[in-house]
Amino acid sequence: MNILNLYFSQTGNTQKIAAKIAAVLEMDGHRVTTVPAEKHLDLDLLSFDFIFAGSGVYQWLPGKPMLDFLRQKRKENAEQGNIVPCAPRHPNKKAVIYCTYGGVHTGIREAVPAVKFCGQLFDHLGFTIVDEWYYIGDFKEAPMKKLNRGGRMGDISNRPNEQDLEEIGRRARAIVTV
Ligand SMILES: Cc1cc2nc3c(=O)[nH]c(=O)nc-3n(C[C@H](O)[C@H](O)[C@H](O)COP(=O)(O)O)c2cc1C
Repeated sequence: MNILNLYFSQTGNTQKIAAKIAAVLEMDGHRVTTVPAEKHLDLDLLSFDFIFAGSGVYQWLPGKPMLDFLRQKRKENAEQGNIVPCAPRHPNKKAVIYCTYGGVHTGIREAVPAVKFCGQLFDHLGFTIVDEWYYIGDFKEAPMKKLNRGGRMGDISNRPNEQDLEEIGRRARAIVTV
């Protein structure tokens, strides 16, 4: 399978997940293109069978390079006639949208807008969103580091941890068979 593994990571958490996805799927013999999002990436999204797209959550949305990428690709694909009313499905094109987030203030609800926003480009292109993943990611830098304790998700220090990454590996392997 030809897989795009697109991500944006400001402080490294989402990058760990993208690296795990790449490792397990390459081991299973898939062709995986792993690439950090940026505005002008020369990528034909419709050439991929399966797309993983993930970002950290920053003020409820994906990071700016991911937002720039999504907006640029929406524009290019609209101009190319790839985005049409009713967004007909491409039967064999699927996507997983995921994020890492802290959830300190309102829990998963502050991450949902990021994942939903990110998914819309792929949905508009006719990819079926087969799953959405929400993984906890801690704050790495002062002064935000103190938020790792006392928020709605409890102590989120050192997440994603090894256990999270093992789970992600299992889920990545399984979801591409859907
Ligand atoms: C500037 C900044 C803003 C953030 N805003 C949010 C937020 O609105 N909601 C949330 O749940 N987490 C928020 N977080 C926590 C990050 O989503 C979390 O640490 C994530 O794992 C970062 O991903 P990365 O390491 O791949 O950049 C924020 C983190 C930073 C550094």
